[in-house]
Amino acid sequence: MTTPLSPLRQVRVKVPATSANLGSGFDIFGLALQLYNTYTLTLTCEAGWSVSLPSDIDLPRDENNLVFRAAREVFLRLGVLPPSLHLAQEIDIPLDRGLGSSASAIIGGLVAANMLTGSTLDSTTLLAIATEIEGHPDNVTPALMGGMTLCYATGAQHRYLALPIPQNVQIVVVIPDFEVSTSQARSVLPDQVSRSDVIFNGSRTALMVAALYQKRYDLLAEAMDDRLHQPYRAALVPGMTEAIAAGYAANALGVALSGSGPSLIALTQHETSAVAAALSDAFACQGITCETRILQPDTTGADGVEMKRA
Ligand code: HSE
Repeated sequence: MTTPLSPLRQVRVKVPATSANLGSGFDIFGLALQLYNTYTLTLTCEAGWSVSLPSDIDLPRDENNLVFRAAREVFLRLGVLPPSLHLAQEIDIPLDRGLGSSASAIIGGLVAANMLTGSTLDSTTLLAIATEIEGHPDNVTPALMGGMTLCYATGAQHRYLALPIPQNVQIVVVIPDFEVSTSQARSVLPDQVSRSDVIFNGSRTALMVAALYQKRYDLLAEAMDDRLHQPYRAALVPGMTEAIAAGYAANALGVALSGSGPSLIALTQHETSAVAAALSDAFACQGITCETRILQPDTTGADGVEMKRA
């Protein structure tokens, strides 16, 4: 049953970053990471929807904020649009770097609005709305559910399965100091690809699933190889091709563009520091500085709590 929108209620939702594609699984695979944004949504007494953000963050501070756009979908679906709402965003996921910042905002808005209205929508419905807003399912699904996910659609139905997370594996994320928007990175992809490239990626995604179930991490390098998006996106990410090669030379298990880039994700077992250095050195050779993060998978997904107001 929908909960009345009484003022002064407040919910806080923590949503993980995600790395989509993992190479071969374009618009299919995604992995949640222990790097978070937090969205606090408060039903206030002042009229209007307002946003507080760190001053250096360039995001809309009005109803066009993506968190609000997602929240509005839930409110409209339930027929309850609050006249007054405040959003406070704490941002640790870098914007437009291929780490799921927009998916995090969408999931944050959906989960917060759902909680404020009595949590009537299930995760399948939230994922359908999120995929509609985002345009692809592979970031929003692990952002909501945590872990590593495989997405597919049957007609208009978006579905997913959880995959085993690689055990005892470190995740190196190298984040270049420039942005690539997902729309830009999708605009460089061809509308048609060759049968041989489809077979290449199809076999690699199947190999990825088998390798994860069998813990054959020695197969990840081949499983993460890709011909459907990375070759076309290399022009947008100077140093990408060299960095991937350098990561493998330093004994990474697997290296790929994270989402639509420009960040790279590398899975490592023993050579984590060497792989991180190899990737960022390859970018440095192009005059690009990077931030390096060593992360663990997030297994919880979006996590919301109702706050007690003083
Ligand atoms: N699968 C999407 C893409 C992820 O590669 O365009 C965007 O982060």
